[in-house]
Amino acid sequence: MITEEQASQAVAEILSSHKKERKNLIPLLQEVQTSLGYLPEEAMQKIAGFLEMPAVEVWGVATFYNQFRFVPLGKYHTVVCMGTACHLAGGRLILEALERELDIKVGETDEDDNFSLERVACIGCCMLAPVIVIKDKIHPKLTPFKVEEALIPYKQEAQSEES
Ligand code: FES
Repeated sequence: MITEEQASQAVAEILSSHKKERKNLIPLLQEVQTSLGYLPEEAMQKIAGFLEMPAVEVWGVATFYNQFRFVPLGKYHTVVCMGTACHLAGGRLILEALERELDIKVGETDEDDNFSLERVACIGCCMLAPVIVIKDKIHPKLTPFKVEEALIPYKQEAQSEES
């Protein structure tokens, strides 16, 4: 897990590679999120200070786009594909099963920072639809029941590390 100091340093490096121009707001938000996995409030304040714009404006822009996250990713970050092929193959049911099983909604991370959930449009393996990715591992041709099964090893691993 990245420390506050490391995060602050990463943000400072990103800012130093950009000009102080408002048109850089989205690229800055994207780069910070890529580096930290989400957009902490402190980082958005630094971006606001750098671009000399109100923090509330930065927050407004960031919350407008659903590509941005405001909580850290879980250890078992789970991505559900909602591209056309996956959607037609029952992606909505897969998403609902994940939300039910993990007890979180898209964009959220659970209380233990174990699981987080994100939806994306096509991850490039449509022949395997519907697919999800848990901690970089692709789980193909899912059904709601298979979602439960796919999550078991990750839940067990999370439990064993807590005990
Ligand atoms: S639509 Fe899901 S992998 Fe392409």
